[in-house]
Amino acid sequence: MRAIGTARSALLLDSDAAFGVALQEARTVMSENAVADAQFMSRALEIAEYGAGHVAPNPKVGAVIVRDGLIVGEGWHATYGGAHAEIAALMVAGEAARGATVYVTLEPCNHHGKTAPCTDALIAAGVQRVVYAVADPHPVARGGAERLRAHGVAVTSEVLRDEACELNAPFLFATRTTSRPFVTLKLAVSIDGAVVDAHRARHWLTGPESRCEVHRMRSEADAIAVGINTVLVDDPALTVREVARPRVAPVRVVFDRQARLPTSSALAVSSKQVPVIVIVDPAHIGASATLAQLGIGVISASSLHDALFALRNRDVRHLLVEGGAGLASSFLSAGLLDRLVIFQAPVILGAGALAAFAAFSPQSAAVAPTLRVVSRAVFGQDLKTVYAVSHVDFGDEAPDVHRTR
Ligand SMILES: NC(=O)c1ccc[n+]([C@@H]2O[C@H](COP(=O)([O-])OP(=O)(O)OC[C@H]3O[C@@H](n4cnc5c(N)ncnc54)[C@H](OP(=O)(O)O)[C@@H]3O)[C@@H](O)[C@H]2O)c1
Ligand SMILES: [Zn+2]
Repeated sequence: MRAIGTARSALLLDSDAAFGVALQEARTVMSENAVADAQFMSRALEIAEYGAGHVAPNPKVGAVIVRDGLIVGEGWHATYGGAHAEIAALMVAGEAARGATVYVTLEPCNHHGKTAPCTDALIAAGVQRVVYAVADPHPVARGGAERLRAHGVAVTSEVLRDEACELNAPFLFATRTTSRPFVTLKLAVSIDGAVVDAHRARHWLTGPESRCEVHRMRSEADAIAVGINTVLVDDPALTVREVARPRVAPVRVVFDRQARLPTSSALAVSSKQVPVIVIVDPAHIGASATLAQLGIGVISASSLHDALFALRNRDVRHLLVEGGAGLASSFLSAGLLDRLVIFQAPVILGAGALAAFAAFSPQSAAVAPTLRVVSRAVFGQDLKTVYAVSHVDFGDEAPDVHRTR
């Protein structure tokens, strides 16, 4: 790759033609750099995912060290309270880090938390340039870029920023507000948008690949919620299986105004192994006494807002709602969804089937919510689409939350 400086000096040539060529060359050189930056950052985002389920409530972070166009070290934040991605990558690169470029998905930290500041380690290693995707949102840890620049390290920011925000959306959301968790609703639907057939019988719509992906999603949630009808019909376990166990098993939550959760349900009988919480209306709190005696947590809440506030106070930063249709519509109507994840299976359920949002009624198509597609992926025969429902701008700092990283 050529250096940008060469093209910049060519811009001084005194002829229109030469100027045009030089400008073109400058654009080409810059875009070559931008392409390389994006490629290496993309790799850093990919390896950041290895920390999924192991580092929350801290962010997933990946780092790639590049010298002369070659990767000489990679690392990621692998365990809660463990080495940060930059340090792990520096360990691999060793002396090769001197004069190298470091790609990291989050601005290097600048404070003594559970570990020493990464900025100090990068400066000591003699790196020439640091490229990061998204600024550290926390006022205590931020400022890494300024410190690096002050020590002569070139810094480029916001490379693949949107992707990096998506990677850590629940973490970034939690740094902005403590009033509720980040909420993801996941549903499996037919081609005609239904969640269950006319007989309401338990039946898998999606294939094994999708179901495995759902377990992966569960492993990144602090809690998994369903409505009481889903429990009464499906008797789900709502545990993480088929993938590596997360550091902390997600709590199981049932939205159950009248405390109807059967004591013989899979959730109730396993509540000693993995906690279960029922969200009960204050008017029915008496009915929850038997559940409480079994060790099941009871939250008294008269609205979804109150329930989410109570869950956030119990350290639920990322809530995965898994249906059914009634609960899904309530979350959508209340404007309490951040991401909607739809697994569409190649099946038609037809007349009498329960539509995913049957209980949601916008006044007209003109005012119906239009969602932004975040990503699409194929799992076996199914299509997984992630939609952004709320728009959260992660640009500003949020001083109301304490950092644990
Ligand atoms: N394909 C899929 O992805 C999928 C996922 C899940 C379920 N399902 C299927 O969907 C069916 C169940 O769906 P469903 O719509 O009948 O029931 P649901 O959404 O599972 O449960 C609805 C019930 O939850 C309780 N609830 C408590 N708080 C609520 C709130 N804020 N908003 C709405 N409900 C609240 C209500 O009962 P109380 O008033 O008594 O509390 C309500 O009747 C089952 O057949 C299941 O197999 C499919
Ligand atoms: Zn750090």
